[in-house]
Amino acid sequence: MPSEDYNRLTDDDTGALIAYVKSLAPVPGGEAVVKLPLPVRVIYGFGGIPEPVEKIDHSLPPSQPVAAALSVEHGKYVAAMCIGCHGATLSGGKIPGGPPDWPAAANITPGDKSVMPAYKDATTFATMMKTGKRPDGSAIKVMPFESLREMNEIDVQALYAYLKTVPAKPFGQR
Ligand code: HEC
Repeated sequence: MPSEDYNRLTDDDTGALIAYVKSLAPVPGGEAVVKLPLPVRVIYGFGGIPEPVEKIDHSLPPSQPVAAALSVEHGKYVAAMCIGCHGATLSGGKIPGGPPDWPAAANITPGDKSVMPAYKDATTFATMMKTGKRPDGSAIKVMPFESLREMNEIDVQALYAYLKTVPAKPFGQR
């Protein structure tokens, strides 16, 4: 569970999420099955993969609600769900605990080897989030587009505005 991506949810948003889950029709469940490639299972077994609980800053006060508007502040709130893979500085690099065949996460700060020059405007960026494809039509791996594509226009545009303001970092300086 990538709780490091979700622990900054405001109490209001967590409450809304709980209300939504409670509203779902009952469906019989099965046993939870986690499929990991063998090398990852081995590393995990030896404690080589940090658990989310170790990655969360437990000293932070609860997040305060931010109005869902086309603002940098709201974009920063949305971007909290990118840090588990792209790193706290969003500069990308190898994803800790990811299978060996996963590509490194991209540098989405304006720094060295940034991918952001390919996204000249918010519309190009929003299209990528909806389709899972780069502007040249090639498919982007690993990113959870099945949920990212559900982001609404305000969230995606605020996210883009925020990414324009983050400090430039060299690739992989998580
Ligand atoms: C589960 C891990 C994961 C999450 C969560 C994730 N990303 Fe990514 N992202 C990646 C990986 C890995 C790549 C590199 C994919 C590749 O090279 O094919 C990538 C690539 C990208 C790219 C570059 C696409 C290109 O043009 O090559 C952008 C932009 C991006 N991510 C933005 C985001 C944003 C914004 C969020 C949060 C809303 C996010 N990602 C969440 C793993 C993730």
